[in-house]
Amino acid sequence: MRNEQVPDAATLMQISTAYWESQTLLTANRIGLFAVLADGPLGTERIARALGTALRPTRLLLHACVALGLLEQSDEGFRNSRLSSDCLVPGGDRFLGDAIRYADDLYTSWGRLEESLREGKPVLATELYTGESAERTRHFVYGMHNRALAVGQVLTHLVDLTGRRRMLDIGGGPGTYSVLFVRRYPGLRATLMDLPAVVEIAGEIIAAMGAADAVTRVAGDYLTDRFPAEQDVVLISGVFHRETEENCRKLIDAARACLCPGGMLVISDVFTDGSGVSPRFATLFGLNMLLSAADGGVHADMDVVKWLTDAGFIGAQSRCFPPPMPHRVIQGVKS
Ligand SMILES: C[S@@+](CC[C@H](N)C(=O)[O-])C[C@H]1O[C@@H](n2cnc3c(N)ncnc32)[C@H](O)[C@@H]1O
Repeated sequence: MRNEQVPDAATLMQISTAYWESQTLLTANRIGLFAVLADGPLGTERIARALGTALRPTRLLLHACVALGLLEQSDEGFRNSRLSSDCLVPGGDRFLGDAIRYADDLYTSWGRLEESLREGKPVLATELYTGESAERTRHFVYGMHNRALAVGQVLTHLVDLTGRRRMLDIGGGPGTYSVLFVRRYPGLRATLMDLPAVVEIAGEIIAAMGAADAVTRVAGDYLTDRFPAEQDVVLISGVFHRETEENCRKLIDAARACLCPGGMLVISDVFTDGSGVSPRFATLFGLNMLLSAADGGVHADMDVVKWLTDAGFIGAQSRCFPPPMPHRVIQGVKS
């Protein structure tokens, strides 16, 4: 029998106004509010002066930030909450401001979701943030770096590369994963392959992380260029969500061709389970990718496991990152 409990309409109001919260954070991050408060509490007038914003609207923004847990208010004025001082003030190990800036860049694209649905293509050209616009490319690459610092720490512990010597990082973006892996496994060397404008910025990041000797960069197109040979490991992270099944299978074949016997393929990404409708974050992530990449979407992890098995990898399996991370890692060994 059907459950006759009356559904809660408040859920609809929450979902329909969720962007109020997003835009409060995105704007505060963009105008530099958390950096202004890095050294301690300030009153509204001084904050408005530092930001170049009008007094009354600034007060409203500050109050909303307190309500969201981004700021705290006392007699001394407004100060960053622990979360904001850890993750939103530039320079810290857990800084996420660039990743939030990249989400900010995508905000207007979400307002054009209908256009993407009707026309069947993204509203934002990938090329814009992989080379065409220098500013957006920097936001993209540094945003990936922020996220990879957190996700990569987990990945390097989930995947055991003991004894492996050469790793190829396909679509390696900022190079953060390569650096974290070579740090964790002394003796391992990595080659990062990505588009030219991305590889250039990756050079800055790899050097700043002190790993320029252990990570080599190759500018290339992973769909058309040959992968450097004799690898022990191929890592493909954050790439499948922008490619069709056909191209994913092509990448798996290219990885197999460049791996030595016994070599390992590691694919890390956001995937759904077999139903395609959970987890919730992964389904929304699919829409986000629809808006920003020609073949963007989200695959089910078990499909990818099957593609690896079809391509001749043995022991292919998928594992979830520990919550709350939405990522999954799929591994297989070249027979
Ligand atoms: C979402 S990022 C993932 C970066 C990194 N692996 C990570 O997981 O954080 C996807 C990467 O694929 C790169 N990419 C997209 N198309 C490419 C292509 N045809 N050839 C090489 N790299 C490409 C992008 O420049 C970007 O760095």
